Amino acid sequence: MDGTETYAIDDVAFIGRTVTEYEHMFDLDLSAWEGESVLDCPGGACAFVSEANSRDIDAVGVDLMYDTPPEELRQRCEEDIDRAIAGFDGVEDQFVWDFYDDVADVRAHWSAAYREFIEDYEQHYDSGRYLPSKLPELPFEDDAFSLVLSAHLLFLYMDKLDHEFHEQSLLELARVASDEVRVYPLERFDGMRYPRLDELREVLADAGYSTEIRSVPFEFQQGADELLRIEV
Ligand SMILES: C[S@@+](CC[C@H](N)C(=O)[O-])C[C@H]1O[C@@H](n2cnc3c(N)ncnc32)[C@H](O)[C@@H]1O
Repeated sequence: MDGTETYAIDDVAFIGRTVTEYEHMFDLDLSAWEGESVLDCPGGACAFVSEANSRDIDAVGVDLMYDTPPEELRQRCEEDIDRAIAGFDGVEDQFVWDFYDDVADVRAHWSAAYREFIEDYEQHYDSGRYLPSKLPELPFEDDAFSLVLSAHLLFLYMDKLDHEFHEQSLLELARVASDEVRVYPLERFDGMRYPRLDELREVLADAGYSTEIRSVPFEFQQGADELLRIEV
């Protein structure tokens, strides 16, 4: 392996994070949102919606994969975790090992997240808690959620998703939020920040939204220790 290799997977992975990971990467105090409504988009195989609902938060997940039956999705999660974990092989030194001890610890977190997700998804996937939909359009009224979270799609997959997709998706996430939107990370897998972030912030400002780049107590991809906050 030479030094030019970067962490790479073939497609957008259907994996997810635990609530502890979300609390760090979004610098989120979940207790502050009790009694509120929160959207996680894309929700992937995250434990967030399950756990937030158990803590008196009206949380909804949106992902293009949520039209898939639970058993099929379980298999997809397991394959994608294996594939994503294999992607660390030989490039471990490109990551910051503060939050996670090692690659086995990453797998432990992502496996715990997907197990909690699948159990909740099996019970609630046809109840409106998990909705299949595809950015840049969301099936919600304006201001439908107090807080909107979006991790590991925008910016991260900048090589697959064009600038217009980013612009339209951010405007759409802001449209359905009544308080704020938080987006993490702002970088590609190799740590390169989205090059036209300032232009996106200008578009959001023109639409009446103020934005800030805020540091978070989490860094796994090198340099990915900030989020974009859109104030609605
Ligand atoms: C890497 S996962 C991130 C999940 C979660 N937010 C996290 O941080 O772990 C990316 C997710 O984006 C979903 N996805 C890809 N394109 C999408 C789109 N246009 N609209 C909604 N979800 C999409 C995929 O199905 C996948 O579950």
